[in-house]
Amino acid sequence: MEIVEQLEALRAQVQDWRAAGARIGFVPTMGNLHQGHLSLIEQARARADRVVCSIFVNPTQFGPSEDFQRYPRTPEQDAELLRNAGCDLLFLPPVEVMYPLGVERALRIEVPGLSNVLCGAHRPGHFAGVATVVCRLFNMVQADLAVFGRKDYQQLALIERMVADLSIPVEIVGAPTGREADGLAMSSRNQYLDAEQRGRAPVLYRTLCAALKSLQAGQAPAEIEARATRYLQGQGFEVDYVVLRDAHDLESIPAGPAEGRHWICLLAARLGKTRLIDNVAMADL
Ligand code: PAJ
Repeated sequence: MEIVEQLEALRAQVQDWRAAGARIGFVPTMGNLHQGHLSLIEQARARADRVVCSIFVNPTQFGPSEDFQRYPRTPEQDAELLRNAGCDLLFLPPVEVMYPLGVERALRIEVPGLSNVLCGAHRPGHFAGVATVVCRLFNMVQADLAVFGRKDYQQLALIERMVADLSIPVEIVGAPTGREADGLAMSSRNQYLDAEQRGRAPVLYRTLCAALKSLQAGQAPAEIEARATRYLQGQGFEVDYVVLRDAHDLESIPAGPAEGRHWICLLAARLGKTRLIDNVAMADL
């Protein structure tokens, strides 16, 4: 596996591969890789001839009081995992490669509507930062396809919309959520949890599944959401949201009959200082 930091070296390698007729798959990450990330590499390998992974802890998607400084950075360990997973190239851009004008003067991408609901409502500027860095990465790597986890469902929806609206020539693939044996969605942030919090965290996944089952049993979405919220609060979580939405439209609250919809239950909740997100779609049950 090649490791490159500069845009010129990245472009040269990708162009060589492309000239040889290879299809290029891309997996953007912020590093501190776990099995969930590695499953995306696997998905990319199944669909492409060469796989590029990027690791960049993107400052523009963290709010001023968020964990940018303490976000776990483990580049050597990550490189080893990627090598074993069959990644062909690891792109590790320094901040001046990603933001040549500097972070303050950088052009930004806003995705109206979707950026401001759910996680966006609780993390102002977060999704503009994500769209901005992913658009930059797409322009740099010029892959044929890019794989994103459904774990970050709103992020995936935002990127699909950006790619469609800006006619970016890349196919977006959504990959299933990798979970620990007890159901907790894998996340780099899980390691912030102490042993007691880690023991409580799987209740999030169980709550999502229970909410969807209640919906199947004919209960009203608003009641299910309120009950799930109270339950998680009782378990010591600070709840940002638990919502049932149409998987194709996260922006508005579904009206009309529940049948025939592609329902998804999404939540964000804090245990101590650690903010965890997860979602389950009816199709995943
Ligand atoms: P990061 O949190 O490192 O996640 C990188 C990719 O891995 C994302 O597509 C995310 O959805 C996926 N992922 C994380 N945990 C997963 C799990 N348990 N199962 C399956 N996939 C999982 O998401 C980001 O980085 C950044 O916002 C980024 C897109 C790289 C832009 O900076």
